[in-house]
Amino acid sequence: MAKRKQGRLHHLVQILLYPLTWLEERSGLVGGVKYFLFRRVPSDISWGHTLGSAALTAFIVQAVTGVILAMYYTPDPNSAYESIRHITDDVTLGWLVRGMHRWGASVFIILLFLHMGRVFLYGAYKYPRELNWIVGALILVLGMMEGFFGYLLPWDQTAYWATVVGVNLQATGPFVGPFLGDILRGGAEIGPDTLARFYSLHMLVLPGALIGLILLHLYLVVRLGVTSPPWSPGAAGKERPGPPPPKRAGLVEPKPRGSRLR
Ligand code: HEM
Repeated sequence: MAKRKQGRLHHLVQILLYPLTWLEERSGLVGGVKYFLFRRVPSDISWGHTLGSAALTAFIVQAVTGVILAMYYTPDPNSAYESIRHITDDVTLGWLVRGMHRWGASVFIILLFLHMGRVFLYGAYKYPRELNWIVGALILVLGMMEGFFGYLLPWDQTAYWATVVGVNLQATGPFVGPFLGDILRGGAEIGPDTLARFYSLHMLVLPGALIGLILLHLYLVVRLGVTSPPWSPGAAGKERPGPPPPKRAGLVEPKPRGSRLR
């Protein structure tokens, strides 16, 4: 009787797991997710190590709230301000979504700097993670450009004059300055063409580039592993006493240039 019950349970589990088995056989995705979730991380990581994930969360909040705002916003000088007013005053919870997007932009940049500070202080930018630092630096530049291009979109006095100052700053640069100013403005003056290109850059080009770079960044984090704090015996760049731990496929051990693997 108990055997039959067990058999039925086994059969039920098989049926429930069938979609996952189907997916795994055709893509290997389930194994990939398992590897990601159960990969080893140093035992002495701390709250500082959560700042990268916090920055990722802030980015996702920006993406989701941005998509909702784009459903109501019109990138045209005659109606941009009115569409923002409509979002804030009329649309259900529009004020909340707009507020989250506006304040979230600053939260994202602050978290990026805190995350960068943690990486810098722990020396986690050193070999073999230099490329990930470079990718991170690109993310930071693009993140700040997101803020610059998004600031014009409400098309109010603050937005307009802040953009005049920002574009003029670029335009005074040597050699490429005037050319860059014209490209940013889309002509000799800030107007409808400026708003259209700022909108396109803010909601298509830069988020697309950022998503690509963030995926590359996270791939490198998983591939290279996370560093321990510098005071830990397992910190990057330190030789470990005793035999080396067993190797796992796909992981590059952090080690100083020219030294033996730990
Ligand atoms: C959207 C932006 C970013 C996201 C989502 C992100 C995410 C992460 C995550 C989840 C980690 C692993 C855990 C941790 O250390 O927090 C990490 C590690 C790292 N990040 Fe970022 N990061 C971003 C921006 C940056 C920036 C601006 C830099 C530096 C210029 C940077 C450099 C690094 C480096 C070198 C590591 C490896 C640290 C280690 O192994 O201990 N990241 N990042």
